[in-house]
Amino acid sequence: MSKKAFTRTLACASLAVATLAAIGQHPVTLTIHPDQPTTPVSSRLYGLMTEEINYSYEGGLYADMVRNATFRGDWSGILYWYLLEQGNASASMRHDASTGPSEALNSSIKLEVKQADAQNQAGVINTGWWGFGVRPNTEYKGSFYAKAGAADMGPVTVSLVADQTGRTLATAKVESVGTDWKQYTFTLKTGAIEASSTNHLTVSVGHAGTLWLQLVSLFPPTYHNRPSGFRADLMEKMAAMHPTFLRFPGGNYVEGDTIKERFDWKKTIGPRVDRPGHRSPWNYWSTDGMGLLEFLEWCEDLHMDPLLAVYAGYSLHGEHVNPGADLEPYVQDALDEIEYVSGGPDTKWGAQRAKDGHPEAFKLTYVEIGNEEWFDRSGSYDGRYAQFAKAIKEKYPNLLLIATAPVTSSKPDVLDEHYYVRATQNFKDATHYDASREGSPSTMKWDNGHYDRADRKGPKIFVGEWATREGLPTPNMGAALGDAAWMTGLERNSDVVVMASYAPLLVNVNPGGMQWETDLIGYDAASSYGSPAYYAQVMFGSYLGDHTLASKVDGAGDKFFYSITGSAAKKKLYLKLVNGSSTAQMVDIDFAGAKLASSAKLVSLSAKDTQATNSITQPKAIVPVESAVPVQGSHLKHSMPGYSIQVIELTLQ
Ligand code: AHR
Repeated sequence: MSKKAFTRTLACASLAVATLAAIGQHPVTLTIHPDQPTTPVSSRLYGLMTEEINYSYEGGLYADMVRNATFRGDWSGILYWYLLEQGNASASMRHDASTGPSEALNSSIKLEVKQADAQNQAGVINTGWWGFGVRPNTEYKGSFYAKAGAADMGPVTVSLVADQTGRTLATAKVESVGTDWKQYTFTLKTGAIEASSTNHLTVSVGHAGTLWLQLVSLFPPTYHNRPSGFRADLMEKMAAMHPTFLRFPGGNYVEGDTIKERFDWKKTIGPRVDRPGHRSPWNYWSTDGMGLLEFLEWCEDLHMDPLLAVYAGYSLHGEHVNPGADLEPYVQDALDEIEYVSGGPDTKWGAQRAKDGHPEAFKLTYVEIGNEEWFDRSGSYDGRYAQFAKAIKEKYPNLLLIATAPVTSSKPDVLDEHYYVRATQNFKDATHYDASREGSPSTMKWDNGHYDRADRKGPKIFVGEWATREGLPTPNMGAALGDAAWMTGLERNSDVVVMASYAPLLVNVNPGGMQWETDLIGYDAASSYGSPAYYAQVMFGSYLGDHTLASKVDGAGDKFFYSITGSAAKKKLYLKLVNGSSTAQMVDIDFAGAKLASSAKLVSLSAKDTQATNSITQPKAIVPVESAVPVQGSHLKHSMPGYSIQVIELTLQ
């Protein structure tokens, strides 16, 4: 070869390498057969999992803005409450264990005012959940329980006040307080102020005397205007995920650290003043404002099926209840709970639910027996599961039961498996449930929350907790890629994986708000944001399909993932593609002669780096972008950017 020819060949070769680098790896060829449905996709595949962790409810979804509404204290004093003495006012405050408005809340805060007048008020300050998120022209509905030492205590003033300027943003008066415990309500209305969260609440008087207070609460406008309801911004974010079920109340929260601290549902219903509250295993107190009925109303608001986890006789610090007579009261409690959820108003617990404000029964399909019971090293779960299953199936033969650890005494309808991994692991796990990896009971190994493979003749699988744990407080783009790769595997194998829910769902991003790293949706008192992983879930949940389609892939490296589903009724094909590589990926798709509309919808989520993320200050750095892509006959040639998750919606003609 002449020197000139050699130089030309070299130039062509470098151009080819440069072009390949620009478009990424070798092209992937995908052949899809829209006329060949393979397996069904469960209509309940994507749901939500929740518990009181990371200030998910109090300081989160349950919209009460007052922190420590029931005046609990420690060695340092009454938490998040401080004394207010304006001008020459003089007062003291202390916890009073001798009086409260109810048996459940039988203590209070006692404010003794030596001196105060209308201009020089004495009272208490609440600092809220890292502030009070206040908006312009908004009504806040509040209440407190109170009694006065004498009838001449005068009005009680409640105000929202800006921390830095001391400016009163909204104020209301309760004209007088009697000498017996009673609930008083008030409304605070803001005017043309700036939205902010650096605010506090004051409750004060302008008269000497004694005032006892308990259960102070303040709600902003809530989702669907439910009284004492849920934060609208968080509900809207969840609604966009199209969740089909809610697994509640845990997680560890259903178990508690000790039996005494379990989610004792009967203590979480009825008026809030009759709920004593309890400690979450995530180390903070819950007033149980978010009780059993509130969970169900959350389901109702988002059209989700309740997936009820009942306490099964094991708590996290190792206490367990032996199967047999000792376990009977807990089994009965679960039966009562099921009746409260799904019984008619003519049943004992259905009548209680009606009394609590919800006469209509909730549709219940799944009941989960405990949580992660493989932690119980006593080996009692098999027996406990059998006892619960027998009693529940006898009374409710149509309910489907979920075991949370392998059992041999009876075959559960569903087994709950958990996965918390890094993105690289989820890239590998995308084939975890593939039929090619099919296992059988004698070959399968249980490892830290799940089997190493699935038995298609065994119980159906509920992936009740899963997440790619990269990024804190919320997942970054690398985690979203791991999640999306994993979800392609769930969809392809939804004949066996019938339900799945990411965990944890929520985190208050303030310092000290997070107990568990990598949580889907973050917020503070004023606003909230979805992580890249949240948007991946929105995309997968919005374009589910009801069956998978036969397909063949060539040239895919170990960072390319896909699933293809269809909906015959909607005449749609949904193609989910994941490019976990930093470089672009050419994808050449052949729809095997199918007649398709000439334009398809593309939804794309991508970032320049795996560490790229959203945050409370940059909530929309990474969001899905919609566009149209041309379809040539039954072909689509498409270049995916590096680090991207895409959904292509095609219409069959
Ligand atoms: O999601 C956080 C915790 O992880 C859950 O409470 C528990 O079930 C699991 O170990």
